[in-house]
Amino acid sequence: MPSSHTRREFLRHTLARAAGLAGGASTGLPALLAAYNGPSEPDGSDQVARHLLRRVQTAAPQGLTFTAAPGTADFGGGANGQAWLLNGTLPSPLLRIRRGDPFTVTLQNQLPQDVILHWHGISPPEPMDGHPRLAVGQGESYAYAFDMEERAGTYWYHSHTHMRTGEQTYRGVAGLIVVEDPEEEALALPSGDREVPLVVQDRRIDADGVPYYQPFGPDLMAGYMGPEPFVNGIRRPYLEVDSALYRFRLLNGSNARILRIGRDDGGPIVLIGNDGGLLDAPRTVTYADVATAERIDFLLDLGGRDVGDRVMLRSLPFSIPGGGGFMGGGFMGGSNLQGQPLELLELRVTGTVQDSAVVPQSLPPVPAPDPADAVRERSFRFQSQMMLHTINGRSFEMDRIDERVPFGETEIWSFANESPLPHPVHVHATHFKVASRSGGRGQVMPWEEGVKDTVLVLPTETVRVAIRFTAHRGLFLLHCHNLEHEDMGMMQNILIE
Ligand code: C2O
Ligand code: CU
Ligand code: CU
Repeated sequence: MPSSHTRREFLRHTLARAAGLAGGASTGLPALLAAYNGPSEPDGSDQVARHLLRRVQTAAPQGLTFTAAPGTADFGGGANGQAWLLNGTLPSPLLRIRRGDPFTVTLQNQLPQDVILHWHGISPPEPMDGHPRLAVGQGESYAYAFDMEERAGTYWYHSHTHMRTGEQTYRGVAGLIVVEDPEEEALALPSGDREVPLVVQDRRIDADGVPYYQPFGPDLMAGYMGPEPFVNGIRRPYLEVDSALYRFRLLNGSNARILRIGRDDGGPIVLIGNDGGLLDAPRTVTYADVATAERIDFLLDLGGRDVGDRVMLRSLPFSIPGGGGFMGGGFMGGSNLQGQPLELLELRVTGTVQDSAVVPQSLPPVPAPDPADAVRERSFRFQSQMMLHTINGRSFEMDRIDERVPFGETEIWSFANESPLPHPVHVHATHFKVASRSGGRGQVMPWEEGVKDTVLVLPTETVRVAIRFTAHRGLFLLHCHNLEHEDMGMMQNILIE
């Protein structure tokens, strides 16, 4: 069945549901908008109970069996509800591995849908990359085996099932991958309890505090957003800390929401890494923007703090220049949440210690493609008209090759946002160097140094990256990492040959 047909089906069902919510008879956009006020939110109160942050479970990806199955998760404060889990945990286990070691994981699907996993930021051979055509049905399994060649860094994995990536990732099929290498170990960065992985996800919740995924019309335009911040699967968490230097590896695992990570006291964070592993130098900033699928690795110094002190990690408020709404703005339910502040994680100082850890003066050089070496340029235009999200005017087709790219040659790819919505653009199978941004913010941001696998392109912006594929030949993907946009077809097949 051609994917355009199933995409129409998907739309039809979704719109039918929305029309139902609107009261039946009325149809069309006004009805959709009337239906959508979002769930009523108990927000604005400071009296909100906070729940202990969950430490994510760690697993070694050597001979690991990963069973995807429906299960029950604790979302904090006794809110138990249904989720789709890998090996029963939310978020899915953190896979920790050393560079050069074998990565062998067998996915067993016990979900009521097809599923396939993609290792985001990792560059494995084509059959290991989780292209949606490789999805396996209920009761089936898929064996992944390759050698981990990535630099030390914070990567992740998630569902990449055709038109189900948003739903499955939201329901819980996602986790972190941490790669270690000797170069990084020599830096003696905070470790153990002082290295804290954070999977941040916004959610809509029901009366019991349990997240649900029920997208309809407006969500297929802006993407599925919710007012409630969850970290490591826990709603409104806190973490008890010592007066010491901490390292946070933060993933924005949301479907559509962009985070502006900072602190409530205006103090700095020291960026040491992003999507492509460590930066080439530490950068002190008061905030960093982290779009869906992007990661930041940062140090936060709580040295000298007293017991009882609190620091809130937040997503700071922002507005998106040149975009953010159709029909004159204000429109579109969930999209109004884009840029709204969130309180993500309260750090409570409960112990004073002598800590010898220091922020490193410098970091190892980052191997990156040089824009000066580019032999050709390709352009990708991102357009959104209502629920139609396209790249160069086309929706994803499973079997159509959109670009043929010579192995090993450096190219400039330009990502032009010709729509009123933000698009975080992701490329599989390599990391790229962000070379320039014109329009919009007009600059490469401090958190975009080093190399990356995802770059945020705001309305009116064109971002140029230097890119080169040196890992493997084969069929890989380029797509918007707003998961509803991706599911709706804002994706292309890239053949490295
Ligand atoms: Cu994070 Cu193609 O995906
Ligand atoms: Cu990816
Ligand atoms: Cu998009």
